[in-house]
Amino acid sequence: MARPFYITTPIYYVNARPHLGHAYTTILCDVLNRFHKSRGEETFFLTGTDEHGDKIMAAAKKEGLTPEQYTDKISGLFRDLWPRLSVAPDRFIRTTEKHHIQTVQKVLAALYEAGDIYHSSYTGMYCYGCERFVLERELVDGRCPDHGTEPEQIAESNYFFRMGKYQEWLIGHIKDHPDFIRPERYKNEVLSFLSEPLEDLCISRPRSRLAWGIPLPFDEDYVTYVWFDALLNYVSALDWPDGEAFARFWPEARHVVAKDILKPHAIYWPIMLKAAGIAPYKHLYVHGYWNLDSAKMSKSLGNVVEPLDMVQKYGVDAFRYFLLREMAFGLDASFSEEALVGRINADLANDLGNLFSRVLTMVKKYTEGKVPDKTAALPEEPEWSLRLQAQEAQQGWEYGMKTLAFHKALMAVWTFIGQMNKYIDDAAPWELAKKEKEDKEQSPKLRLVLYELLEGLRHVAAWIWPVMPDTAEAMYGYLGLDPADARRDPGPWDGLAAGTRVKKPKALFPRVEYAPAERKPEGPEPPVKEQIEIDDFARVDLRVATIVAAEKVKKADKLLKLTVDLGEERTVVAGIAKSYDPADLVGKQVIVVANLKPAKLMGVESRGMVLAAVSGESLVLASPEAPVPPGTPLK
Ligand code: MSP
Repeated sequence: MARPFYITTPIYYVNARPHLGHAYTTILCDVLNRFHKSRGEETFFLTGTDEHGDKIMAAAKKEGLTPEQYTDKISGLFRDLWPRLSVAPDRFIRTTEKHHIQTVQKVLAALYEAGDIYHSSYTGMYCYGCERFVLERELVDGRCPDHGTEPEQIAESNYFFRMGKYQEWLIGHIKDHPDFIRPERYKNEVLSFLSEPLEDLCISRPRSRLAWGIPLPFDEDYVTYVWFDALLNYVSALDWPDGEAFARFWPEARHVVAKDILKPHAIYWPIMLKAAGIAPYKHLYVHGYWNLDSAKMSKSLGNVVEPLDMVQKYGVDAFRYFLLREMAFGLDASFSEEALVGRINADLANDLGNLFSRVLTMVKKYTEGKVPDKTAALPEEPEWSLRLQAQEAQQGWEYGMKTLAFHKALMAVWTFIGQMNKYIDDAAPWELAKKEKEDKEQSPKLRLVLYELLEGLRHVAAWIWPVMPDTAEAMYGYLGLDPADARRDPGPWDGLAAGTRVKKPKALFPRVEYAPAERKPEGPEPPVKEQIEIDDFARVDLRVATIVAAEKVKKADKLLKLTVDLGEERTVVAGIAKSYDPADLVGKQVIVVANLKPAKLMGVESRGMVLAAVSGESLVLASPEAPVPPGTPLK
């Protein structure tokens, strides 16, 4: 009996809509899940949403919703997206579910009881983006490398989890299980982090500051800190401790995450499990980041790829294929619509699509649309060669899937597709058909060649099913087979029964045109304004200001009302709402034209103007290269 298989995505924060990055991880898990299912394994695929914490509270407030209303709304966007990307999870967990909350409290109570959680006061640097205290050595130029923001110094009394106690155990576990964290580079990163003493983990926030969280069972004045809540979803979804699903699937758990959340998964989580007396998960698979046209994808730059846009334009299977084919697991990759179109036309329309219709057209023409009987053919070369190439492809495919080299797995299949195209050219069935007509005698060779080609297509369909389920099932249908059979390993060669009627071929993937959304010309326009004297410029009073508060201006989708400190506090209205979230602005330093005459914008008086670079559709704020006191003049 095959071993069960349990795979999880991160549970996504509901402070933003789902984008390409979320889609990638979830599609990848779906592909792995389908692959293992097709091998007859009993599988369990978990995804969901992470709904507590400061960020979510702030996002709800910004939209004028209660946290409950807000989390229902965004969690629903994630849940509804997955079927449209052909992603089929077995369970969608929300951290606001009662059962999950009870599980978190159960674990907290046990660890507190065991003395692994203690109360203490603490001053540290807190990164709101990471939702955790960060260490000096994790920062780059004083900023969080993932969020580009300076952490805030916070002093408060809190509950802490004794991580240091389990540090040596974790190092030993990682060394004894070389496959625990994959790929290797991330394992090494974790071991290098563990070479320094581990600080205890702050696991609570005072309720007075953050009400939107799970109350600590032993102190109602505090709620759990986000990671402690979130990570436990992986076991609460299986009904730990007594659930049948837990006993069955937990020993086979694989978590898939991107490199941004390596530390919580590779360090906090195994230690939490150890302290709670739960066996460690089996594997952590860590992938790189998708950038967009080589730039970091971010909401503030306005360059987020909406998965549904791509699916509506190009189809779900093409999108899934592209994501898996283009990224080498573990490394960063760049998404571009042009590259997607290129792959659709070359790999899908040309290589696979043409091969498919070419073969079916010949079967229609030469063997009355039926799978031919090849028993009369002699085992002569090269007409039998395809099955050997198929064996190689199957090995390459399986090896790639098992070692997370998805792009290589697909390359192995496409090599075979190329070999099939060559096989047709070499065997020239049209010549064989011509001869058959002339000789008025059935050609066993023609029948053999067509049979082998149909069988090759059946194999290709079953291999690609985890990645392109609709295409694979359609191919099975065209081959006269039950589409549901594409969901299984293709089994031995010669699986097609002679006499089966194939269908009239249709293009599997029509060619597509790359039609980029209209863009303004790249780069800034050349300067055209009249020349001025230095004295003219000196009349402009430019000052550095620190943003202390930011909010949207009602009924104006472009405007933000900023409260800035430039020695004194002022209100400045800025047309940057399409490029910046108010929450991301607080603490940022900007340049302000301080002596601009006041003006009323949508009912709000603005005393000054912030400077920003205009880059296409987006605005990028100008700010001093290093922090300076508010009010510092520019010359
Ligand atoms: N809520 C936490 C995870 C808790 S898991 C117990 C969280 N949420 S998140 O919404 O920020 O999701 C982060 C994950 O989304 C990444 O680890 C990755 O799976 C996916 N991605 C988000 N942006 C991405 C890219 N640009 N590229 C690739 N994947 C990325 O962290």
